[in-house]
Amino acid sequence: MKRVLTTILCLLLAVAAVVAVYRFGFRKSIPDAPVEEQVLAILTQNDCFVCHNQHPDLPFYAVLPFMGPKMREHVSHATDFIDLEQRTADLSQVDEVTLSMLDHSVSYDTMPMAEYKMVHWGTGFNRKEKSILAAWIREKRGSDEPIRPIPASIEYDKARAELGERMFNDVRLSLDGTISCATCHVLENGGADHADERVSEGINGLKGGVNAPTVYNSVYNVRQFWNGRAADLREQAEGPATNPVEMGDQSWDQIVERLGEDKELVREFEALYPGEGLTRETVTGAIAEFETSLITPDSRFDLYLGGISSAITPEELEGYELFKKNACATCHTGVAVGGRSFERLDIFGDYFADRTPEIAYNSDDDGLMGFTGNEADYHRFKVPVLRNIARTAPYFHDGSLQTLEEAVRAMAKYELGKNISDADVASIVAFMNTLTGTSPYYSLQD
Ligand code: HEC
Ligand code: HEC
Ligand code: HEC
Repeated sequence: MKRVLTTILCLLLAVAAVVAVYRFGFRKSIPDAPVEEQVLAILTQNDCFVCHNQHPDLPFYAVLPFMGPKMREHVSHATDFIDLEQRTADLSQVDEVTLSMLDHSVSYDTMPMAEYKMVHWGTGFNRKEKSILAAWIREKRGSDEPIRPIPASIEYDKARAELGERMFNDVRLSLDGTISCATCHVLENGGADHADERVSEGINGLKGGVNAPTVYNSVYNVRQFWNGRAADLREQAEGPATNPVEMGDQSWDQIVERLGEDKELVREFEALYPGEGLTRETVTGAIAEFETSLITPDSRFDLYLGGISSAITPEELEGYELFKKNACATCHTGVAVGGRSFERLDIFGDYFADRTPEIAYNSDDDGLMGFTGNEADYHRFKVPVLRNIARTAPYFHDGSLQTLEEAVRAMAKYELGKNISDADVASIVAFMNTLTGTSPYYSLQD
C-alpha cells in the first residue's frame, strides 16, 4: 500500500516537474519591445489566435470523431464572439470593444477555457502577462472601468442646433405634412418610439421593419442604424425623409423646394450657413448638430462612477458587478454602454427560429450584411446603447421583447449560451435602471 502511494506521489511530482519546466523553461519570454509588440506576443503564446480567427489552422486530430466536432464548435463560437486576429491586427488603432473583451478575459481568467488549458499546458495568462495587459488596457481606455461617464457637456454650434431642433420637429419634411422626426423619436420619453410601437409607423400608417432606436447619445455611435448604413448623424438624417414608409418624399430636391417657400427660414439658413443657404446638406447638418446636443449626463450610475458611492444601492452595485462578470460589458461598453460595434445576435442559439412566428424573417434581420454584403456580417447588429434603457421599450431590432428581464434572458441565451438566475436577472435590471440620465426635455421624476 505504502509503495503504491509512494509511486503515485513520485509520478505526480514528475508530472508537476515537467509542467513547471514547460511553463518556465520553454515558454517564450515577453520580448523587450514596445508594449504593443508585447501584447501581441502574449496573445500569440497563449494560443488566443488558434480559435479566434476566420481561417483557423486546426491540428491533425480535428478529424477525430469526438474531438473534431467539439473543436470546430469552439472555433465557430470563438470567432462569432470575437475575431481577435482581425480586431488586433493594428493594436495602435484597437477599438474599445476589443479592449473590454480582453479586459474581461484577463480580469475573470476565462481564456483559454479550462478544458483547453488541461491539454495545452502553459497556456493561460500568468501574473506578469496579466499586469502588462491590464496596464495597456487602462492606458488605451483611460479608465479601469469598461463604462465611462457621459461628460457634463459636449461641444456643438448652439445657433445651428437651435435651427436643427426646429427642423427635427418640422412636419414639412414629410410629403403630406403629418410626420416629423419627433413623431418616432419622442424626446419627452427615451428618444425612441412609443412603447406600444414594435416597429415605427410612418406616412399613411405604413409600418417599417425595425424598432426605432433612441436619438439620445446617438452621437457616440460608431455608425448609425441597426445595420450601420449611415456613417454619421448627418448622413443618417437624409434617410427618413425619402424613406417610403417613413416620411414618403420623392427626393431631397422636393423637400428643399418645399422648405424654400418659407422665406424666413431661407434667410435663417443663409445667416448660419453663409455661402450655402438652405440645402440638403445644411438641413441635415443642422439636425445632426441638434442631435449632438442630446446627451444625457448625471445618471445615478455616472454619479457613482464620479465617486459618490451612495448614488446607487448595494443591489444595483451587485447588478453592475454581474453585468461585468457575465461579459455584458464587453459588447455594451464605453460612454454610451454600447453603440461601438456590430455583434452577432445568435452566437449560441438560433434566435430567428425561436422568435414568434408572427414576425416573418425579413431583410432587416440580415443585419450588417445587408449593408456590407459581407457574409461574416450576417446577423450582426449594432450593439444598442443602454443609456436610458428603462425608457426605450420594446427591445431588440425587431422590437419583439417587452421587458428588460426578457432582454437580459435572451442575451444570456443567445450571446453567452447560459442561464442567469432570476435573482441575478433582477440585479442586472436594477443596475440598468440607474442608467437613466438627465435631459432638458424630461425630468427624472416623470
Ligand atoms: C480552444 C479555443 C479557444 C482558445 C484557445 C481561446 N478562446 Fe476565447 N473563446 C472561445 C470560445 C468558444 C468562446 C465563446 C464563449 C465561451 O464558450 O466561453 C470564447 C470567448 C472569448 C471572449 C469573450 C468572452 C470572455 O469570456 O471574455 C474573449 C474576450 C476571448 N475568448 C479571448 C480569448 C483570449 C484573449 C485567448 C487567449 C488567451 C483566447 N480567447 C483563447 C474559444 C477559445
Ligand atoms: C416613421 C418613424 C421615424 C421617423 C419619422 C424618423 N425615424 Fe429615425 N429611426 C426610425 C427607425 C425605425 C430607425 C431604425 C432604422 C434602421 O436602423 O434601419 C431610426 C433610426 C434613427 C437613428 C439611428 C440611431 C441608431 O442608434 O442607429 C437616428 C439618429 C434617427 N433615426 C434620427 C432621425 C431623424 C433625425 C429623423 C428626421 C429626419 C428621423 N429619425 C425620423 C424611425 C423614424
Ligand atoms: C456579443 C455581444 C453582446 C453581449 C455579450 C451582450 N449583448 Fe446585449 N445586445 C447585443 C446586441 C447585438 C443587441 C441587439 C439585439 C437585436 O438587435 O436584436 C443587444 C441588445 C441588448 C438589449 C436590448 C437593447 C435595446 O435597446 O433593444 C439589452 C437590454 C441588452 N442587450 C443587455 C445585455 C445584457 C444584460 C448582457 C449580459 C447578460 C448582454 N446584453 C450581453 C450584444 C451583446
